[in-house]
Amino acid sequence: MLIAGNWKMFKGPAATRAFAERFAPPAGVDVVVAPPFVSLAAAVEAGLTAYAQNVHWATEGAFTGEISAPMLLELGVAGAIVGHSERRQWFGETDATVARRAEAALAAGLHVIACVGELEAEREAGETEAVLRRQVSVLPPGERLVVAYEPVWAIGTGRTATPALAQEAHAFVKSLLDRPVLYGGSVKPENAAELLAQPDVDGALVGGASLEPASFAAICAAAAAVA
Ligand code: PGA
Repeated sequence: MLIAGNWKMFKGPAATRAFAERFAPPAGVDVVVAPPFVSLAAAVEAGLTAYAQNVHWATEGAFTGEISAPMLLELGVAGAIVGHSERRQWFGETDATVARRAEAALAAGLHVIACVGELEAEREAGETEAVLRRQVSVLPPGERLVVAYEPVWAIGTGRTATPALAQEAHAFVKSLLDRPVLYGGSVKPENAAELLAQPDVDGALVGGASLEPASFAAICAAAAAVA
């Protein structure tokens, strides 16, 4: 079981240190946090396992605003999220660039959480499986790769996929790629246990509810209980 906190554009270094002082992950579950780039060093120094929220495919070069895998490894960062729907929606991320980021990060020795998931209109049009097949098929197989299924209509909306719907999507993703699959989209202490109890739900990628030490710890405890 892996529980990952995606902090998005929240928490500078001081807030990251304050979180770490109040957060103690339970035994029996792998817990990582993905703070903004500027807070990664503070997270690592505070003893948290830290992932970046993105990573570039080149080692270095003329890529203003990007960060490479060797730079993250130098800081003690353990992994990176790639292909989050907010990157796809607002920053032009495509299946092709997600694949390049994932490949380079894995080759450099980082763990990778690659995000996939359908838009509401795509689900309503019956295109969920076609979208997932397109997004998953470009991902490089690798021992350090984990997929996160995040239906876009459930992210930050308070609308969680039902456990049955999540299970169905996870089983489909695993039929395409034999890797663990995290669920993401409005995971909270109140719904975590039921989602994590599904046979093909191998953990969670948590946004809003990972910002408070108590709620993130409660989700981690739910994972430890079903692990
Ligand atoms: P949320 O975000 O838990 O706030 O819905 C999940 C995510 O975007 O990874």
